[in-house]
Amino acid sequence: MSCNCCGAERLFNLKAAKKELKKYRKSGAGKPTQALIDSLNASESKGQTLLDIGGGIGAIQWDFLQNGGKQTTDMDYSDGYLEVAKSYAKENGWSDQTVFRQGDFLEEEDSIENHDYVTLDKVICCYPDYHGLLTKALNKTNHTIGMVYPMGGSIAKFVAFFVILFLKLSGNSFRPYIHPVSSIRQTVLDEGFKSVHSSVSFPWHVEVYRRI
Ligand SMILES: C[S@@+](CC[C@H](N)C(=O)[O-])C[C@H]1O[C@@H](n2cnc3c(N)ncnc32)[C@H](O)[C@@H]1O
Repeated sequence: MSCNCCGAERLFNLKAAKKELKKYRKSGAGKPTQALIDSLNASESKGQTLLDIGGGIGAIQWDFLQNGGKQTTDMDYSDGYLEVAKSYAKENGWSDQTVFRQGDFLEEEDSIENHDYVTLDKVICCYPDYHGLLTKALNKTNHTIGMVYPMGGSIAKFVAFFVILFLKLSGNSFRPYIHPVSSIRQTVLDEGFKSVHSSVSFPWHVEVYRRI
């Protein structure tokens, strides 16, 4: 594992994944994830493919398949999250339509084919090199990319300060990153996409872009 992901396996572990799945079964996806799902317009996903980078327990994938999506790929470096997502797919009869890949997307992207939709739900903040991550994710996108990432500004930095302090005190080398919002947006536009949705689910930006 590269140091893009240092300490993440301790944070995004099997115990955390099981807890999240329990919550998902009870009350569905969390607010920012649901906002992204709604803005992706799943009714158009019939016969389409989705690459969910850092897909967690898979909430976006399950909605995509329920709405007629053809196939999903979940690329995550957390074994625990993948295990939970895989068993949920099996339980729902989606094993033939789902691909689960373990690893760091930045290192594995050469071996991943293009998908119609790509999603990055709370993943940009896990990467120091957001430009590299985004550019590579955009290259894998046939037409639509959706992302949830932290709002910038002093409140986000204040929250991040305490998260980092907690991680340091617990001896975890994982670090979240608050990247500049304007540079994130410019990177997407420079790659030939236009904005089709932008909203806030505090403290996250929820955005969808379509290839021009
Ligand atoms: C904050 S969680 C978000 C999970 C899910 N997308 C959600 O919103 O519930 C970040 C996820 O991204 C994964 N992740 C972070 N960096 C990654 C990388 N470089 N390659 C693959 N997966 C990554 C983590 O393992 C974790 O499952």
